[in-house]
Parts: sequence; structure tokens; C-alpha cells
Amino acid sequence: MPKSLQNACSRVLVSLAVVVVTGCFPAAGGIPEPVSPSDLVRAQADYPTVTDVELAQGRQLFIDRCGSCHNHPELQAYTKAEWAPIMDRMGRKADLSRAETTLALQFIVSRLQPRP
Ligand code: HEC
Repeated sequence: MPKSLQNACSRVLVSLAVVVVTGCFPAAGGIPEPVSPSDLVRAQADYPTVTDVELAQGRQLFIDRCGSCHNHPELQAYTKAEWAPIMDRMGRKADLSRAETTLALQFIVSRLQPRP
């Protein structure tokens, strides 16, 4: 193929890569700290019956299943209202059952600081 077309193609590819890396992929947050008593208090405000064991299971699912396609996302980058539909989509991508998706969401919510 002509050189100019090749250049045009590679420009398109580079811009696509930039969109994927900066635009839709989540900001990286690393491996989250183990569950603490204050996480349980925060989570129970939304899920009154959740236990620390369930939060620990959710954390483990998050660690094991949410860092293979992209880095572990930064939890604070989204609000609780944004996380619920994201987890509906990402739970399916990560092959989580409904129950596992709920565990992971409860863990995520336990880490969200109230924002002004
Ligand atoms: C099979 C690959 C795959 C797995 C596993 C996966 N993701 Fe994603 N994730 C993607 C892709 C691709 C995107 C960007 C495009 C999109 O949003 O669908 C993305 C985007 C995101 C975003 C950015 C917000 C958004 O709405 O796009 C967040 C946050 C996220 N993922 C969280 C998670 C969490 C939490 C898990 C674990 C339950 C997870 N992902 C597992 C592929 C994956």
C-alpha cells in the first residue's frame, strides 16, 4: 500500500490506542488494603446485613477478577450510583455470578468516602 495511506492508517491506530488507554479504561488503583472495621460500618449504611466475611470475599473477587483486562480500577474514581451499572457490565465480563457481583459491589461501596 502507498506510504501516505500507511501513515494515515498508523495515525488512526495511534489515536485509537490513546482513546482506549486514556478514555475508557479505568484509572489504576492497585490492590486494595484488607477489610477494616470502618469499612464494615460504611458498607452497613447501604447494606445493613453485610458481614466482614462477605466484604473480604468481595475484596478477593475484586483482586482476582478485576485486574486482568485492565489494571485494578481506582475505586474513588466513581460514585456509588455509577458503580452499580458498571458492575452489572464488568461482573459479566469477569464471569461473576449475580451473588459474586453483589459481593464485589458491596466491597467497593465499603471503600467509598462520602464526597462533598
Ligand atoms: C474481560 C475483560 C474485563 C474484565 C475481566 C473486567 N473488565 Fe472492566 N473494562 C473492560 C473494558 C474493555 C473496559 C472499557 C470499555 C468498556 O467500558 O466496556 C472496561 C472498563 C472498566 C471501567 C471504566 C468505566 C466504564 O464504565 O467503562 C471500570 C470502572 C471497570 N472496567 C471495572 C471493572 C471491575 C470492577 C471488574 C471486575 C468485576 C472488571 N472491570 C473486569 C474489560 C474488563
